[in-house]
Amino acid sequence: MEEKLKALKEEAITGINSCGDAEALENLRVIYLGRKGVLNMIFTELSSIPVLEERKRIGALANELKQKIEELIAAKRLGLSKVETKEAIDLALPGKKSWTGHNHPLTSMNDEICNIFLQLGFSIELGPEVELDWYNFEALNIPPHHPSRDMAGSLFSSFFITDDVLLRSHTSPVQIRVMEKRRPPIKSIMPGRVYRYENFDASHAPIFHQVEGLYIDKGVGFGELKWVLSEFCRRFYSPDVKIRFTPSYFPFTEPSAEVAVSCVICRGKGCKVCKGSGWIELLGSGMVHPQVLINCKIDPRQYSGYAFGIGVDRAVMIKYMLDDIRLLFENDIRFLEQF
Ligand code: DAH
Repeated sequence: MEEKLKALKEEAITGINSCGDAEALENLRVIYLGRKGVLNMIFTELSSIPVLEERKRIGALANELKQKIEELIAAKRLGLSKVETKEAIDLALPGKKSWTGHNHPLTSMNDEICNIFLQLGFSIELGPEVELDWYNFEALNIPPHHPSRDMAGSLFSSFFITDDVLLRSHTSPVQIRVMEKRRPPIKSIMPGRVYRYENFDASHAPIFHQVEGLYIDKGVGFGELKWVLSEFCRRFYSPDVKIRFTPSYFPFTEPSAEVAVSCVICRGKGCKVCKGSGWIELLGSGMVHPQVLINCKIDPRQYSGYAFGIGVDRAVMIKYMLDDIRLLFENDIRFLEQF
């Protein structure tokens, strides 16, 4: 009997110590201490010991073992509950925010520009990125071999696929498509991607974004062009921004003007972004050339209008003071997350 108790003790100690969770521990408790458990069976067996002294001695040993097992189980239960609380959900901790995406800064800027013109009564039109020579150049009064085919300044900057088909080098061809399709009054903006045969560097990209504008109606004059573009600059930058119109040249407009705003960073004092000039050039514009209207079968004696083209990437770079256009195309998540 004594041997049996000793063996039982050993077995109980290893069993309880190696127990991994509360449920297994409870099972062990039932096996050893339960109503029909091992120890109760031992207490029943005690009556079969004939000598009283021996019965008392073994009884005391059995009681001792019962107490020992109770202690071991209690200690183990405490240990397990500590481990479990550690893994449990702590409701006092701040919640983890799930990661959500957002618009690319170019998309946001494009939307911002378009929204201003929508408020000014323009509608939105889209055109193809793969374009015919006629729309990209000829109808816009840019004949073959004319130097202005090379508007970006580096020779042959257009991306021809065949002799006649190219990736559009500006959004101006959409003007022609809209004038072909609709009769005046036409008051539309045409956002989109454009392509130039150019290597990527800090200030050039082979792909970038423009928002084209066109207003054709009876009696549209240069004063209206000035007002609309000034109003756009005030809404886009700030109500007190200074606006400068300088004479320029585009084959599809006459007269043509470039529009600059007083540098939003240094307020005209001169800084890195405006290269010390105090002005930032934002867009090209002008009165639609009569030949362009004729090309679209619109009578220039009846109708006139203005057009403009805004560089979206430039506007983003100015707004966020970026010194490298490539940042907008690399899609580095560490950069994009800042917007
Ligand atoms: N298409 C010109 C460019 O890519 C921008 C431009 C200038 C558009 C004058 C116009 C305009 O509509 O009137 O540089």
